[in-house]
Amino acid sequence: MSDFETILYEKRDGTGYVTLNRPKALNAYNIKMRDELFQVLAAVRDDPDVKVIIFSGAGEKAFCAGADLTEFLTAPPPVAARQVRFERDVWGRFLSIDKPIIAALHGYVLGDGVEIAGCCDIRIASEDVQFGTPEMGLGIITAAGGSQTVPRIVNRAQALDVLITGRWVIASEALKMKLVNRVVPRDKLMPTAEGIAGRIKSFDSEAVRYVKQAVTRGMDMTLEQGLSLETSLSRRVNTRTR
Ligand code: COA
Repeated sequence: MSDFETILYEKRDGTGYVTLNRPKALNAYNIKMRDELFQVLAAVRDDPDVKVIIFSGAGEKAFCAGADLTEFLTAPPPVAARQVRFERDVWGRFLSIDKPIIAALHGYVLGDGVEIAGCCDIRIASEDVQFGTPEMGLGIITAAGGSQTVPRIVNRAQALDVLITGRWVIASEALKMKLVNRVVPRDKLMPTAEGIAGRIKSFDSEAVRYVKQAVTRGMDMTLEQGLSLETSLSRRVNTRTR
């Protein structure tokens, strides 16, 4: 599982560590990374030994500086290049994972970086984090899930402000708008993520998965449907433990 070119994957004590690993290009998201992420997401989803997942970026400067511009803005034209990205439903694959995913974010978190972070459940950032969606300036829209996940994390007005203007958001503002759950010094980033992972792993993993499902699937339902989902998930836990 460590044979990837753009991603490091490691499994330790029930945690799956997924590290974007193109530090010289600030972990820019290229087609190879898309393909490898697609594979690794299935692996963490289907491996019963993995109870929780931590996403991070290699190197000092960035979690991910967005789409790889060397692929993106050269021939074939941007629209065709972008189409290639839709050939693997990476974002759908994120949604198929009912285990908790923690994002440990540092430095630049741009474009696809924001979108990967948006597919995670708990976002921890270091003090040097800077979020941005440069898509508008490139004549395209945020379309790797971000136009849907960001307004579900922050509010609609905040999402539109950031996505339309492409303005950057630093750690203090990200915390204020709840784009991240916690901001910590850089050297505390992984220890904090691991501390949260450890706490989650101390709980019954099926109950953890059900509560994630209740919240994430329920958010897209009417209240009545959501309550019914909650009842059926809680019955499964209660029946099992009786
Ligand atoms: N795609 C491909 N390569 C990228 C990249 C990207 N999105 N972002 C950075 N890199 C590369 C740079 O080309 C540079 O490579 P080099 O050392 O071979 O010249 C290396 O990463 C370091 O980047 P650099 O620009 O020197 O770092 P910086 O600290 O001065 O600036 C950024 C950092 C993020 C502000 C700047 O790199 C940038 O604006 N990147 C593009 C962001 C973007 O528009 N992403 C697309 C979103 S849809």
